[in-house]
Amino acid sequence: MSKFRVGLIGCGGRMTGAHMKAFERMDDVEVVAIAEPVEERRLAAQKKYSLPDERCYKDHKEFYAKENKSTLDAIFIAIEPTAHDRMTELCAVEMGIPFLVEKPMALDIDLAKEIAEKVEAKGLITAVGFQDRYLDLMDLIKAELPKHKAGGLVWGAWIGGIPGVWWWQKKSTCGGQLLEQNIHILDGLRWLYGEPLSVYATNTTGMVKAGEDASPEYDTDDHSTVVFRFPNHVTATLVSGDYIQNRFDSKLSGLVISLSDMVIEYHLRNNVLFKSAKEIRDVYRNEDQTYTLDRAFIDAIKTNNPALVRSPYQDAYKSLKLAFDCNKSMETGEVIYYDR
Ligand SMILES: NC(=O)c1ccc[n+]([C@@H]2O[C@H](COP(=O)([O-])OP(=O)(O)OC[C@H]3O[C@@H](n4cnc5c(N)ncnc54)[C@H](O)[C@@H]3O)[C@@H](O)[C@H]2O)c1
Repeated sequence: MSKFRVGLIGCGGRMTGAHMKAFERMDDVEVVAIAEPVEERRLAAQKKYSLPDERCYKDHKEFYAKENKSTLDAIFIAIEPTAHDRMTELCAVEMGIPFLVEKPMALDIDLAKEIAEKVEAKGLITAVGFQDRYLDLMDLIKAELPKHKAGGLVWGAWIGGIPGVWWWQKKSTCGGQLLEQNIHILDGLRWLYGEPLSVYATNTTGMVKAGEDASPEYDTDDHSTVVFRFPNHVTATLVSGDYIQNRFDSKLSGLVISLSDMVIEYHLRNNVLFKSAKEIRDVYRNEDQTYTLDRAFIDAIKTNNPALVRSPYQDAYKSLKLAFDCNKSMETGEVIYYDR
């Protein structure tokens, strides 16, 4: 039987470190085309998949000029947030090629909205890299919540080191730590609690010194705090930081969910503790959630069952829009209320 043919746009850290590793575990999948401007990375991917020169492109424009629905079954896109343009996803939509794109899918929210609408109109199968929706630990948390009285306080955090790559050092090219990285937990809150009623956010800059602790252009948030009010008496505070030096395993990233009769302590992608008067249950992660995400996306296409995808572009757009709203609240100091 012929294999499932995948094209890759971007061969940087995320593609090589996670998606390519996931494909190694899939006998039914082959990478048949790649696009990557950095020669060293392009050549490494070409060698890995023994690709002919004519299917190794310098960027997505060359890629879309030659590839189409008859040559590919799906496209995986993992490029810098600032590199998405009107062609990156819209060409795939127009050609009717299913695609998986990494979060944050764009820094232009109007473009993301247009893509979401066109994906919906076309009925195209898409996926966004919100890997935590596929995490076995997240499934346990989602199944546990309805067993308890609704409501309570939630603390979420992702506190990391000073970003190394150029695009993550500037808010204009990454969107800030909340939008670039902690959008995973923001999306997790939507996955667990639905759409918020209101959002309010603050941020600070200048703790990380541009030119001393980081590049001279460094201007992204040091940290930010968002308060989300959700229906059913849930209020979540989400903190995002990227100022840590001499990184160590601080166990500060994840979620703490305080229910009336249980505390759920989720340590990011590692383990989750369910603490109650009866027991303390500690469960560790079993499976790599990016593998599960990629498998779900590919199986959704192979079986024409879009329901296997937990974060299609249209839904992921709502998380992206919410992160944009958080950034807006940081700028204006105003609470944003939603009419629900
Ligand atoms: N889902 C997750 O958990 C997760 C984890 C890490 C990164 N990411 C996301 O993945 C994206 C990429 O991150 P990364 O760490 O791989 O960045 P990176 O800088 O390591 O790699 C991005 C690559 O895209 C290439 N590229 C840029 N423009 C291109 C174009 N027009 N055509 C083809 N290739 C192009 C760059 O040359 C680079 O090699 C980011 O949006 C990031 O947030 C997601």
